[in-house]
Amino acid sequence: MIWYDNYNIGVEQVDKQHRQLAKTIKKLQKSLTQGRFTPETGETLKFLVDYTKHHFAEEEALMEDIGYEEIDHHRKLHKKLVNQVVEILLNLKKGKQIDAYELIDFLTEWLTNHIVHEDKKIGKAIERQGYKPG
Ligand SMILES: [Fe+2]
Repeated sequence: MIWYDNYNIGVEQVDKQHRQLAKTIKKLQKSLTQGRFTPETGETLKFLVDYTKHHFAEEEALMEDIGYEEIDHHRKLHKKLVNQVVEILLNLKKGKQIDAYELIDFLTEWLTNHIVHEDKKIGKAIERQGYKPG
């Protein structure tokens, strides 16, 4: 996954975490050997899941702080992604074969779409309010 500056939503705390997510997806990509998962991939994937949960929690706290009107919808999107990824991990543990490139494409697409179409709206709401994250 490549990070482009237009993915920034203008909230440093959030942007920093998004960049970390992008970096982790890139690391995941690099850790594959001939399209297969390795022990390193497993670790990176676990970090990605934990960090994503942490990031979503902070983003949701921020939305609460600013009284963001689309918070429920946004929360649902986060929850759906976490559930999807947890299911993928469970399948992996059960020994199910997963196309690693497909997984990386899915994660990359999800993150970029979500940032550009959803998280940017939070950035705009913050701008409108002149809110300064504490
Ligand atoms: Fe989000």
